[in-house]
Amino acid sequence: MGVKLNLIVAVSENMGIGKNGDLPWRLRNEMAHFSRLTTKTNDPSKKNVVLMGRLTWDSIPAKFKPLPNRINFVLTKSNLDFSSYENAHKFDSLQSAIDALESDKYKALVENVWVIGGASVYKEALLSKYFYRLYLTKVQKSFDCDTFFPSLPENLKEISEANVPTEQQEEKGITYSYHVYENISEAV
Ligand SMILES: NC(=O)c1ccc[n+]([C@@H]2O[C@H](COP(=O)([O-])OP(=O)(O)OC[C@H]3O[C@@H](n4cnc5c(N)ncnc54)[C@H](OP(=O)(O)O)[C@@H]3O)[C@@H](O)[C@H]2O)c1
Repeated sequence: MGVKLNLIVAVSENMGIGKNGDLPWRLRNEMAHFSRLTTKTNDPSKKNVVLMGRLTWDSIPAKFKPLPNRINFVLTKSNLDFSSYENAHKFDSLQSAIDALESDKYKALVENVWVIGGASVYKEALLSKYFYRLYLTKVQKSFDCDTFFPSLPENLKEISEANVPTEQQEEKGITYSYHVYENISEAV
């Protein structure tokens, strides 16, 4: 089977995802949900890939970089040097990252691929034939943001997923809820 991209994102009421290179909010349990889902594999001998743009990579504090227990793929056209990282690799296009995922090496190693942002990477992934599911946290509040999630394609169906709680969540007086959408267009 070919590569399937799972997108995961937390979005405010005004469709914001970032501010000044960081998240607009600090929601520890939401972050833990992100870490749990992107790390979890059914096969313990496999790992997941987290695929991100260079600014999202830059936003990760040095002590958490690369994101642990996941293979980090970073899209950049820069000549940044990733050779010191054992678990982080750079690619100069989404297609070159997909080509790597389709190689025998990664096919044997990788269970799920998670696209973790930011805006342009989400957009390219949503429009691609590889887009499979969108794991969307709806934060029920507006925030001052400078980075926004792209508009959703139409061919989505909300599904329930055993790993994703359906109850309303609350932290620091901010309510939010988890949703999973599947791409029902024929490309996947
Ligand atoms: N709320 C959430 O769930 C969430 C998730 C992720 C990120 N964020 C936030 O979003 C912001 C960062 O996102 P962003 O949209 O500004 O930036 P981004 O998408 O993370 O990074 C953009 C950079 O990625 C590289 N890139 C993107 N597409 C590429 C492609 N097809 N081929 C090669 N390189 C490519 C380029 O790097 P070069 O310039 O190096 O070539 C580009 O400048 C931060 O505020 C972050 O905290 C929020």
